[in-house]
Amino acid sequence: MADLEKAKHDFLTKLQTLTKEADILNLKSEYVGKTGIVSEMLKSLKDMSPDERKLFGPKANELKDFIHDQSAIFIAKIEIEEINKKLAEEKIDISLTDNIFFKSVKHGGFHPRTLIQQEIEDIFLSMGFDVLDGPHIEDEFHNFEALNIPADHPARDMQDTFWFNDPHNPEDVAKNGKKHLLRTHTSTIQVRGMLSRKPPFRFIAPGVVFRCERTDASHEMVFTQLEGMMVGENISVANLIYFMKTILKEIFKRDVEVRLRPGFFPFVEPGFELDIRCLICEGKGCSVCKQIGWVELLPCGMVHPNVLESGGIDSEKYNGFAFGLGLDRLVMMKYGIDDIRHLQSGDLRFNSQFKLF
Ligand code: DAH
Repeated sequence: MADLEKAKHDFLTKLQTLTKEADILNLKSEYVGKTGIVSEMLKSLKDMSPDERKLFGPKANELKDFIHDQSAIFIAKIEIEEINKKLAEEKIDISLTDNIFFKSVKHGGFHPRTLIQQEIEDIFLSMGFDVLDGPHIEDEFHNFEALNIPADHPARDMQDTFWFNDPHNPEDVAKNGKKHLLRTHTSTIQVRGMLSRKPPFRFIAPGVVFRCERTDASHEMVFTQLEGMMVGENISVANLIYFMKTILKEIFKRDVEVRLRPGFFPFVEPGFELDIRCLICEGKGCSVCKQIGWVELLPCGMVHPNVLESGGIDSEKYNGFAFGLGLDRLVMMKYGIDDIRHLQSGDLRFNSQFKLF
């Protein structure tokens, strides 16, 4: 019995000093392995008298179980300690904003055009509009013909265009209306939108467009528009004006003076030019408003029946409105930028003036 007590005591003393799982397993087998100290004691049971066996047997088995349990407990302790150590060492404090890591990282920002585009998308989404996208490389059908601008129409001259050299017979391709170009306006997405849905529907389509323009303070070859279209039954000019005014008020966070003039665009009838009072010069006249005091911002109108038909829509039953918002002009008005070329410059001194993430 004294041997049992000693074995227990020795085992525990040694166990306390161990810090590795492998060492604990070795110690355990030193005691309860095949030839371990306790195992050998159990083997000696057969040589004992029945009385001795009765007393010694259960105690020896108890010690065996104790050693198994204690070994398992100590191994678990070591594992937990290892996990805690890792957690402490590899901890990242995400609430830290002022340490060296954050200070050395240069923060980017959104381009002012992106900021406005996101804002407008949110406003239209809240009014039940979808947001669509379309390809930059278009064919004549989507850019012109389906929008009621046939090949010989003078309106094509309004939009000087970048054409692609078609590798196939150019004349033949042109005849089939398949010649490719960089889209001159986002109105192409009107056609794609109509062909892919059934009325009633409403959507907007922001995107970059390309024209062979002479650049100045208010003209660029690459600029951004935001097309909008709403088709249904009994849609009127009053609906159009309501949506346009609402959106301008939301964007500028104030009432903006607007005026509506008749405007000609082959894809709308009647067509309008919606101008806003120049916010750069407050109407006094500047390079952006060409000294007129008003800026053309929102050409719009009621969708021409030919356009509806090209989009597979019954023009007897449905009508609608469309508009093409000049996003760059809007950005310039909102942030007081006096030259459109700043927007495309990629100049960080310009870009970094706008809201950071
Ligand atoms: N696509 C025209 C342009 O780029 C702008 C435009 C005018 C779009 C009238 C429209 C519209 O949807 O109704 O000049």
